[in-house]
Amino acid sequence: MNRLKSFESPESPAWLVQNTGEAKQPLPGLDLGEMIHHLRQSGMFLLRGFDVSLARFEEFTTRFCDRFHDVGTRQATETSNSDGYTSEVPRSNFSLFAHSEGAYRPWPPPPDLCFFNCVKSPGDASGQTMLVDGAGFLGRLPRDLRERFDQQGVIYQAKWDQARWHTEFGVTNLEELDALLLEHPQCEYQLEGELIEVRCHVPAIQVSMGGVPAFANGLLAHLPHVSHPRWQGANAYSKGTNRVFFGDGEEIPENVIHRLIDIQDDIALNHAWMDKDLLILDNTRVMHGRREIDGGGERIIRSRFGRIRCDLAQHAVEVRFE
Ligand SMILES: [Fe+2]
Repeated sequence: MNRLKSFESPESPAWLVQNTGEAKQPLPGLDLGEMIHHLRQSGMFLLRGFDVSLARFEEFTTRFCDRFHDVGTRQATETSNSDGYTSEVPRSNFSLFAHSEGAYRPWPPPPDLCFFNCVKSPGDASGQTMLVDGAGFLGRLPRDLRERFDQQGVIYQAKWDQARWHTEFGVTNLEELDALLLEHPQCEYQLEGELIEVRCHVPAIQVSMGGVPAFANGLLAHLPHVSHPRWQGANAYSKGTNRVFFGDGEEIPENVIHRLIDIQDDIALNHAWMDKDLLILDNTRVMHGRREIDGGGERIIRSRFGRIRCDLAQHAVEVRFE
């Protein structure tokens, strides 16, 4: 038997389908429209206790998506025997602030949906995945800051080596990159020896599958350093060559970054993994991040990121304006 219920946070409802029957039961033949309905409503959906092999995981994701996303930071972690679009979440132990996948550049477009499948949970309550509802986040932003993000968007600056920009933009040389960026003038670069310094001006606020505006972006995962007192000693990810700016070119000051981290920490739903969990997120609404694992435990999580099938996107748009 399967049970459908809301779980964890009343402020940020999520939906769980739990297998309460045979341990070997494969993924349920849930109605796709029903799952889309719950994704539209809450931006997240969890299947727990089902027997999820790699092949079943990949097949399941193709019910929703027909185009999948290469993760620019994970060239070396593709899972063997997969179709090439399943990658393993890095096993190294660190914290990473909540972000929308691939939201720091305009092309290829960021994925609509994120799929995570827990092969091995850390075995205690640590190593959780932070789930941050961007709709709730937006409601907590001070009005002036919300308006500024809404009107100006955000600029991400990064230095990428050749392998990284080849993967990020899906090109093999600078001529192809130049041709691509002619179509996307909100993104520009300059050469720095073997590296490029790239600046991309993109929205900070997106409209979700369910039609609600959401503060869903990559800002907090793109910081040059983390100085928030609550996160000192927590091995929170940053990269010294990254920068984040408001759309008018002013670097986002530390007090604003701290405010954003405070909102994240206030509303984050900390998902403690169980083996076989399959979590689906609307990437245009729910940001994901990670917390450190205590005590030397290890977690293994498969991931896939995809663009929603055109027929389902049409369905989502139709119901959006009911
Ligand atoms: Fe991610």
